Amino acid sequence: MIRTLNINNRRYLGNKYKLLSFIQRVVEDECGNVDTVADIFAGTGAVASAFQDKQLITNDIMYSNYICNLAWFSPRQYDIGKIERILGEYNELRVREENYMTENFSDTYFSHDDCSKIGFIRQDIEDRYRAGRITLREKALLVTSLLYGMDKIAKTCGHYDAYRQDVEFDMHLEMALPLASRENDPRNRCYNTDANVLARKIKADLVYLDPPYNSRQYCDAYHLLENVARWEKPDVFGVARKMDRSRLKSRYCTRSAGEAFEDLVRHLCCRYILFSYNNMAEKGNERSNARISDEDIYRILEAKGTVKVFSEDYKAFTTGKSEIADNQERLFLCICGEEEQEKVWCNRL
Ligand SMILES: C[S@@+](CC[C@H](N)C(=O)[O-])C[C@H]1O[C@@H](n2cnc3c(N)ncnc32)[C@H](O)[C@@H]1O
Repeated sequence: MIRTLNINNRRYLGNKYKLLSFIQRVVEDECGNVDTVADIFAGTGAVASAFQDKQLITNDIMYSNYICNLAWFSPRQYDIGKIERILGEYNELRVREENYMTENFSDTYFSHDDCSKIGFIRQDIEDRYRAGRITLREKALLVTSLLYGMDKIAKTCGHYDAYRQDVEFDMHLEMALPLASRENDPRNRCYNTDANVLARKIKADLVYLDPPYNSRQYCDAYHLLENVARWEKPDVFGVARKMDRSRLKSRYCTRSAGEAFEDLVRHLCCRYILFSYNNMAEKGNERSNARISDEDIYRILEAKGTVKVFSEDYKAFTTGKSEIADNQERLFLCICGEEEQEKVWCNRL
């Protein structure tokens, strides 16, 4: 019997799974006639999954998130019997070969034997895809199963900045079937690019923005999942065995986050912008402080339309910015002016 997987069966920093009903309620109550939703810092795709009855645009700079988003949201059909059969074969495997994973990661995040199996399976998925025996969506489903399976057994605290040396390898890789819809909207599209590049090209009723909040780069925290998803077999360095990630660094984790956000918002063509950001601007340490100040958030969004703010317990801020308590998740809703939308649209032609 093959176990099954849902989109939230993985650990991911800043994922919004627990906030979905809050996000949905704000959209239902405040945004009319939403047919297209763009989630352009999609991460796990949890927020997009709450709008699966609509046309979806997803995007993430990390290929490992893109491939999972493709598995969950692609409009392409797939042969579920074939996927189950392949996953069943993988679960029966006893692999002892040396490969890229054993050579670089043995007894770090995974045991030698699990590394051998992960390396074998990832190569096998690639070979099947190159030989035309599985489609791109089927490859995405198999890679998603592998990444979720790795996350479940990795000897980490949920991210790959370091591995835990004090615990046994007591869990072993098991491939499970992602319960991905076969009735996604035929207009759905998944992208793997910088959100600021994509912003200039898409049009949606609602654009949801959930960039990183602080200096912590996602490509550092998830380098190993990214490495296995891409399967380019790069050299890895240091105790944490990280590959070169210079192409994947996000401006939203740097001092120029405010400028990046301003450029992004200015180029969006949509009726509503829904922006998730916490209130940690000056509260934590240099690493955990949010990168965009409240002053900049209001200035940038107000140039685009009318702004309303909701806190996690779904109360609008009645007395402005002074109500902020400790580490609070906030949703900024910007109702974009019609003239502003026309201007952005015309500038593209
Ligand atoms: C806070 S997480 C999003 C979490 C997501 N809402 C969820 O529920 O899983 C931010 C995401 O933005 C991505 N990211 C960072 N900079 C980006 C950029 N410039 N363009 C696109 N994606 C980016 C990161 O890879 C990360 O997955």
